[in-house]
Amino acid sequence: MRRLTVELGERSYPIWIGAGVLGELPRLLEEASIDNRRKLFIVTDEHVAPLYLDKVEAVLRTAGYMIYHSIVEAGEKAKSLSVYERVMTEALEAGLDRQSAFLALGGGVVGDLAGFVAATYMRGVAFVQIPTTLLAHDSSVGGKVAVNHPLGKNIIGAFHQPRLVAYDTELLRTLPSREVAAGFAEVIKHGLIWDETFVEWLEQNADGLQRFDDNLLQEALLRACSVKVAVVSEDEKERGLRAILNLGHTFGHAFEALCGYEKLNHGEAVAIGMVAAAMLAERLGIASSISNRTRRILEQYSLPVALPYVMEADAVIEAMRRDKKGEGGKLVFVLPTTIGKVEIRKDIAEEPVRDVLHALQEGGKS
Ligand SMILES: NC(=O)c1ccc[n+]([C@@H]2O[C@H](COP(=O)([O-])OP(=O)(O)OC[C@H]3O[C@@H](n4cnc5c(N)ncnc54)[C@H](O)[C@@H]3O)[C@@H](O)[C@H]2O)c1
Ligand SMILES: [Zn+2]
Repeated sequence: MRRLTVELGERSYPIWIGAGVLGELPRLLEEASIDNRRKLFIVTDEHVAPLYLDKVEAVLRTAGYMIYHSIVEAGEKAKSLSVYERVMTEALEAGLDRQSAFLALGGGVVGDLAGFVAATYMRGVAFVQIPTTLLAHDSSVGGKVAVNHPLGKNIIGAFHQPRLVAYDTELLRTLPSREVAAGFAEVIKHGLIWDETFVEWLEQNADGLQRFDDNLLQEALLRACSVKVAVVSEDEKERGLRAILNLGHTFGHAFEALCGYEKLNHGEAVAIGMVAAAMLAERLGIASSISNRTRRILEQYSLPVALPYVMEADAVIEAMRRDKKGEGGKLVFVLPTTIGKVEIRKDIAEEPVRDVLHALQEGGKS
């Protein structure tokens, strides 16, 4: 098992990555001061529950924990106020108190939902992330938790750090290939914003990684999580630096919202968004010759690099202005200056954004 630490003073916490981490869960919980006198409430979804819920519950029961669970529908729809309310009700009915803890067993959807429940249950109780998707290497670290509002993604949320992230790479083996690709989008993002050598390594090891070679996979997760840890440890509440993690997300969130969170998943939307950001940077003269390499690495990981559906530029821009990352309706973009470095720009005019959106419909070449 490999360990990383998110350094946040008294709220610092470990991320454990490895094959078989689940078997160590009772010990890791104990280390995080969640001992077996506390009730645990597992939140998971209908795809993950039949695969792993029994196993997790068995490990915890053997260690003497009292466990309850709630199974929500799979997919982005579960990040809603109505599902939030249902989980709250079930937790209250189970008699959870302020000493209890929530465990998020699933991908980013379950992590964001369960984390927001934990952040607000009796004004905040402990929670633990047990990520089961590749994408969740990103969502499980850093304490951003939220549900969606029909008018915007992640609009109802909080900062609430987990006590522990227990990342068992064995659980990733059942992921559908589309979800694997989506996860690699955020892995690649961590390279593109921070570390060109990591991008090179991802380019060289694309085949092995997609075959889920365990050593390579652990290395990739460790390196991607390290970037997130470094950024979050420096700027927990997104006062500045943390915004770089949003590369591809101003575009991506708008793409997701416009297709009703269905035709594109989060990782796919972010992949297209990162291509758009690279094209925009080139148009503005901030960067040169980076969009081709950006497209190439995303394609190596079976990700889309152009819009698969027609989206009106006006509608995309309107959705971007509504995104909470916008300040007073201004468009905020994270733009690459080279591979491995980005800057945050709040002064971009609509015209070049429109040009990029048109080019993206036409197959992604600008
Ligand atoms: N909080 C953050 O910092 C942050 C960062 C990035 C993304 N996110 C959020 O994460 C969400 C996307 O997360 P995601 O891509 O993990 O989606 P997800 O949680 O919906 O999981 C994707 C699909 O895979 C299934 N699944 C999960 N684990 C599985 C497994 N081991 N085997 C088989 N199937 C499995 C799920 O049931 C679901 O159908 C978005 O809502 C996004 O906004 C949050
Ligand atoms: Zn993301």
